[in-house]
Amino acid sequence: MRAMPRVVITLPILLAGFVTAVAHGADVQAGRRAAQAKCAQCHEADDWEGEGAASLESLIQDIVAGKVKHKAKLDLTPAEISNIAAYWAAGVK
Ligand code: HEC
Repeated sequence: MRAMPRVVITLPILLAGFVTAVAHGADVQAGRRAAQAKCAQCHEADDWEGEGAASLESLIQDIVAGKVKHKAKLDLTPAEISNIAAYWAAGVK
């Protein structure tokens, strides 16, 4: 087996992951402000103990997209979604 094909496949995947992480740059403090402004009337940060940021993020995305039923209509930008998910997953008060 030659080593070349593996490098060709792995490198773009690594790069894509890196770029996504940087572009995302979820901001826990911004998430805290957004959650307090828009979600805290019904949710507390401890509601989500043990949830990971990625699963919370995709759950909130599904709510915003109308795929998951939710009590209130959520109107959030993709950045707000990842920030709130990061804040709730971090478990910061
Ligand atoms: C008017 C009250 C209200 C507001 C405001 C609210 N929620 Fe909810 N949300 C609920 C209720 C009620 C449930 C269902 C019961 C529960 O899981 O607590 C829920 C459930 C959820 C769930 C879990 C859904 C599931 O199917 O597991 C997520 C995630 C969520 N809300 C995110 C948010 C986010 C993010 C915000 C703010 C941008 C927000 N909610 C604002 C009332 C609200």
